[in-house]
Amino acid sequence: MRAPVSDLPLVLDGVSLRAGSITILDRLNLTIASGAPTLIVGPNGAGKTRLLRLCMGLDRPTAGHITWGGRADSPMARRAILFQRPVMLRRTTAANIAYALALAGIPRSERAERVGALLERVGLSDLAQRPARRLSGGEQQRLALARALARDPQILLLDEPTANLDPAATRSVEEIVQSAAESGIKIVMASHDLGQVRRLASHVIFMVRGAICEQGKAGDFLDHPTTEEAAAFVRGDLVI
Ligand SMILES: Nc1ncnc2c1ncn2[C@@H]1O[C@H](COP(=O)(O)OP(=O)(O)OP(=O)(O)O)[C@@H](O)[C@H]1O
Ligand SMILES: [Mg+2]
Repeated sequence: MRAPVSDLPLVLDGVSLRAGSITILDRLNLTIASGAPTLIVGPNGAGKTRLLRLCMGLDRPTAGHITWGGRADSPMARRAILFQRPVMLRRTTAANIAYALALAGIPRSERAERVGALLERVGLSDLAQRPARRLSGGEQQRLALARALARDPQILLLDEPTANLDPAATRSVEEIVQSAAESGIKIVMASHDLGQVRRLASHVIFMVRGAICEQGKAGDFLDHPTTEEAAAFVRGDLVI
């Protein structure tokens, strides 16, 4: 059997992203290794979404290099991304997952069982036959997580998955994310919620205006921020 190739570490080396004369991301250097979750934090417009898209391989940098496990041309098969506003297919909850499994190349004969397992993993078994577009915002996020997990990813990129959710729905999503991390999936998640950083992050990448302002262990970032911007963010001041 072929040894599974690894997408980790994910390395950005002097990566910039420009659109015309606008610099969206400015010379980012970072290494994302296996292990507990990395959270990308920073104010609106800092560049979190654009960074996640680069990490997925959806966009190419205009300068610098990205490598996944040492390869520059890594196919997306081992990665999954969850966008801020998930798009549900006009089908049932279960059929949305079955479709994701089909796209991931899972044989038809195995799909029903996998759908059942994924529904259970995200706590949606009772809503399997509900039209997905009728689900609440929190339920839709959990369904989106199930579809992402259907790809059996090594890296799961999440763009503020709890931004519009209440505390109970946030907790459900965080529990799924936590258990995915414990199963060995590398979580890379954008957030501007400091509480979420405390609850989930092992590592933090703090961005301001398209640049990495600070990065390191979550505890160091939260307890001993070294830059004025990070200190303000941790204090709960408005960082613009
Ligand atoms: N195609 C583009 N052309 C010009 N500017 C862009 C383009 N895409 C993004 N930007 C700008 O780049 C900056 C970073 O955008 P991005 O969506 O990554 O921010 P973000 O940190 O995800 O913000 P939010 O917290 O609001 O989701 C923003 O100022 C945005 O307006
Ligand atoms: Mg964003």
